[in-house]
Amino acid sequence: MNKKTIFITGTSSGLGKLTAIHFAKLGWNVAATMRTPEKETELTTYDNIKIFKLDVTNVDQVNSAVNDAIATFGKIDVVVNNAGMGSYGALELAEESTIDWQFAVNVRGPINVIRKFLPHFRAVGGGMFINISSFMGVTTAVPLGSLYNMSKFALEGLTEGLYYELKQLNIELRLIEQGGSKGNNFVHSVIWNKNENIDAYNDLENKVSHMMANSPEDQLDDPQTIVDAIAAQATGESNQFRTIVGEAGKGLMALRNSVPIEQYLETIASNYK
Ligand SMILES: NC(=O)c1ccc[n+]([C@@H]2O[C@H](COP(=O)([O-])OP(=O)(O)OC[C@H]3O[C@@H](n4cnc5c(N)ncnc54)[C@H](OP(=O)(O)O)[C@@H]3O)[C@@H](O)[C@H]2O)c1
Repeated sequence: MNKKTIFITGTSSGLGKLTAIHFAKLGWNVAATMRTPEKETELTTYDNIKIFKLDVTNVDQVNSAVNDAIATFGKIDVVVNNAGMGSYGALELAEESTIDWQFAVNVRGPINVIRKFLPHFRAVGGGMFINISSFMGVTTAVPLGSLYNMSKFALEGLTEGLYYELKQLNIELRLIEQGGSKGNNFVHSVIWNKNENIDAYNDLENKVSHMMANSPEDQLDDPQTIVDAIAAQATGESNQFRTIVGEAGKGLMALRNSVPIEQYLETIASNYK
């Protein structure tokens, strides 16, 4: 049987890197993409991982990385849109550039990658996009996360909307909705909206940043559970359109589905009174 190939964005750290290593160990070819390949020392040690430079917001780089990966491996079977960033803080305090960047990386990035892969998937008779969302893509779990929520809700809508046009082409779509996991790098790279100081937001900012800094590690999920959820979709073990990973996300979803939205919003807000 021909080796399968997976193309992953944002493999310099965290989930992207773990996923690249997991699939390499499964015996797949891996096109691992990142903004700064020159810094990578771990993925380069695997014979079946090839690294390509890719900032998902840069359409020229998307074109080159996808063309080069296809030229290297012949056929790509699965694309994981993993690259992402988070901005937090009151919307009123956000830099104009941060608002655009949040959308550019988390929404326009996957759009760029998906659009570039569609001719290839049509030519080879199918493929799969696995889009890494968040439980913040289906619930609003933390105050001051409106921009991040916006980006992941948009990714969810994009993925669901695409279902109808790609089904006939044998191109499958999946969403992974996880929360923070052990050894989480993501919260440390969050951009805080602090364009100016407005006292009215200080109390909420302190509570949210305290909560983020003090999530006990033992209540966070093992990141391998997220990798396993991705692998279950890529290998065909599961064909679930949406996979919520982790107890926090499952609890929030259960609450959201069981009470009116007004009650849901008040319940989350009351955690930060
Ligand atoms: N960890 C969480 O709490 C959490 C929860 C739910 C969902 N998620 C989602 O999970 C995904 C992976 O995050 P993570 O937890 O693994 O955090 P992470 O370690 O911060 O990884 C984010 C990755 O995205 C890359 N990236 C950022 N901007 C990029 C761009 N313009 N082009 C290409 N790559 C870019 C980063 O690369 P650089 O090194 O170049 O910055 C990094 O490799 C993200 O989509 C995130 O939104 C994370």
